[in-house]
Amino acid sequence: MKRVDDFRLRLGKHELVPIMIGGMGVDISSVDLAVEVARLGGVGHISDAMIKTVSDRRYKTKFVKEKLALYKYNVENEDKSAVKFDLGKLVEATRLHVEEAMSRKTGSGLIFINCMEKLTMNAPKETLKVRLEAAMDAGIEGITLAAGLHLGSFALIEEHPRFRDVQLGIIVSSVRALQLFLKKSMRTGRLPDYIVVEGPLAGGHLGFGMDWAQYDLATIVAEVIQFLKNEHLDIPVIPAGGIFTGSDATAFLESGAAAVQVATRFTVSEECGLPDKVKQEYFKASEDDIEVNQISPTGYPMRMIKSSPGIGDGIRPNCEAYGYLLDANGKCAYVTSYNRELALHPGVRKISVMDKTCLCTHMRNFDIWTCGYLTYRLKDTTRKAADGSYQLLTAEHIFKDYQFSTEQKIALPE
Ligand SMILES: Cc1cc2nc3c(=O)[nH]c(=O)nc-3n(C[C@H](O)[C@H](O)[C@H](O)COP(=O)(O)O)c2cc1C
Repeated sequence: MKRVDDFRLRLGKHELVPIMIGGMGVDISSVDLAVEVARLGGVGHISDAMIKTVSDRRYKTKFVKEKLALYKYNVENEDKSAVKFDLGKLVEATRLHVEEAMSRKTGSGLIFINCMEKLTMNAPKETLKVRLEAAMDAGIEGITLAAGLHLGSFALIEEHPRFRDVQLGIIVSSVRALQLFLKKSMRTGRLPDYIVVEGPLAGGHLGFGMDWAQYDLATIVAEVIQFLKNEHLDIPVIPAGGIFTGSDATAFLESGAAAVQVATRFTVSEECGLPDKVKQEYFKASEDDIEVNQISPTGYPMRMIKSSPGIGDGIRPNCEAYGYLLDANGKCAYVTSYNRELALHPGVRKISVMDKTCLCTHMRNFDIWTCGYLTYRLKDTTRKAADGSYQLLTAEHIFKDYQFSTEQKIALPE
């Protein structure tokens, strides 16, 4: 009987254990986690989501305070178009984070960064270019382009000296999205080095509508593999979303996938960036506690635990400090919803906003508990203590369980 360890992922000159841990913003897929996965021979991701606040927390910078001080005058203003990111500071924050990861890296694995196009940052092209180039300058080994179609992203960085040396991957949820991307990026004479195919059971934002349950990862992966074959394109395909056991992963590898991308099982690892008390919420969640809703201002459906403190919260928008979701015109759907509720409830001190959430503030504070569909199975991957709490796992334990287990077995910790 085959297991994941019988396969290898080839990326450039690298030969890897075919397990990639997906990017999880904001700093949920931490440097600690990525470094550990690289040591074990797989591919780890850090994320550049809200990089300045991550830098402040991790490297004692003061980027958020400085930005807020600069734009404080605008806090009560509905129009956020004046609130811009300082590109030099964006470079600095990205550099600090990537250098921390790369300087600690050991082993034969790789460390990539997850860059979401939907972080439009009130100047989508300029900020994305800076983010991608700064990560390459700081030595990142690969970039996974996520959350958005990224049709122009390759062209943004084609002049960079590392454009052809860094591993560049995309996340898609359909053949159609892949076709669009390939058509557009063909002009740069460079294809992606890998394609993550993310199905409807993933955590974070989904590349589907609210009809996500109609779709099935295995079917989409088969379509993508067939499409690439028809086009005579040899690009590794990496399925993601709901791959919970080594056997689940092996089934994909046997049907032509080059690796798998997984995330949910690592949310309860010691190395994961979530606070320990939030990790317990992930363990405790039952199937009914998890929903896909439309409260993300990005417009994409997002999966989360229903009791996330951020849901329904009517906090004043924090764009002067953060502002990662402001579009090219300085607009965010949460700001619109917040102002509507404010106008409807004059004089009320604490309003509630149900249809959208201030994703920046709540992700930064770990108050939106985004998760994969199979989060309710995490409790079966560990032991429960007498006080009702669940034992955290090491990333090594989870990684090796994926790598070596068979017959749908999940190894419990010592
Ligand atoms: C807590 C959490 C946060 C996530 N955040 C991101 C993100 O910032 N960017 C992204 O591209 N994918 C994100 N994802 C998706 C994962 O990278 C991954 O593709 C997917 O969750 C894999 O499915 P699994 O969780 O069922 O293993 C997130 C997933 C989780 C569980």
